[in-house]
Amino acid sequence: MYPIEDQYGRTFKTLRISLTNTCNLGCVYCVQGDGVRQDIPVSKASLSLDQLIQVVAKLKAILPLDTVRLTGGEPTLFKELVPLINALSDLGISNIKMTSNGYLLADMATKLAAAGLKEVNISLDAVDADVFYKVSRRRDLHRVLNAIERCIHAGIKVKLNAVIMRGMNDSQILPLLYYAAEQNITVRFLELMKMGYYFSNEFERYFYSEADILNTIATEFTYKRELRIEGATANYWETEEGIRFGIIANESSPFCGDCNRLRLDSYGNIFGCLSENSAVSVFDVLDDEDKLVERLRMALSHKQSVQFKGSALQMMAIGG
Ligand code: 5AD
Repeated sequence: MYPIEDQYGRTFKTLRISLTNTCNLGCVYCVQGDGVRQDIPVSKASLSLDQLIQVVAKLKAILPLDTVRLTGGEPTLFKELVPLINALSDLGISNIKMTSNGYLLADMATKLAAAGLKEVNISLDAVDADVFYKVSRRRDLHRVLNAIERCIHAGIKVKLNAVIMRGMNDSQILPLLYYAAEQNITVRFLELMKMGYYFSNEFERYFYSEADILNTIATEFTYKRELRIEGATANYWETEEGIRFGIIANESSPFCGDCNRLRLDSYGNIFGCLSENSAVSVFDVLDDEDKLVERLRMALSHKQSVQFKGSALQMMAIGG
């Protein structure tokens, strides 16, 4: 086989598929500015369901893939989500996960679980309705809370993602921790990343560090740090009461050194790194294994050695 591995021993084990680059929420840390990909003409069609499955099957034959994560934009806006998850299950991918804002998820939970969805990371940046509105610019906090409960009930493992911004939702750190503990799930707090608007504007103003998050939690809890899991983006802590939480801290605790993620967009382009703006197409070389391997190596070479340095691209265009 072809070893697709770089000098740091990194390869591609997790495939993140961005199913669409549109979203039904308007979260301030994501859609601010106009950081959309300029190299994709508006008229260019996305891959069909069959073509998408074809790409994944080819990648799986070449790479040591063990996990597929569906992202967006918002992946629940992809009309053929259930057939796609069924097809991924049929390809023998046992770890199928998704990252969603939860807005449309409640009514889909049972069907997604039956198709083979094992885990979902739901973005929840506030449990207070007014703060939720300030961040997401939507009024429907209850829809997301309902989705969380329905997914848990359907047997899907749920984790929460909360991007913390100073003066925006840092008041929500402890309430989110209490809410997650009540639901018996883990919340992960994210440091703001320099993407889209924040690549060149107001990053310092809103940045709330890992140390700031830990200090806030320390006002009510005593906690211990766990050993880092290889390839993980988050570090985890556990309080004396047994509440586990994570922090994804690109600035304070960068995690590129053992990143094994490959990103695929809905047009058949791959990306070795979030910060990579130029698309490497794979759909046009699916039948030429040598070329496909060459393109995968090219994508691998785009990984940063230590830390994500930021990108004018919005997270919405590439799926986190
Ligand atoms: N910084 C940090 N996290 C972000 N996300 C989106 N944009 C940013 C940003 N600028 C998060 C979302 C979601 C995940 C895919 O990425 O909240 O949980």
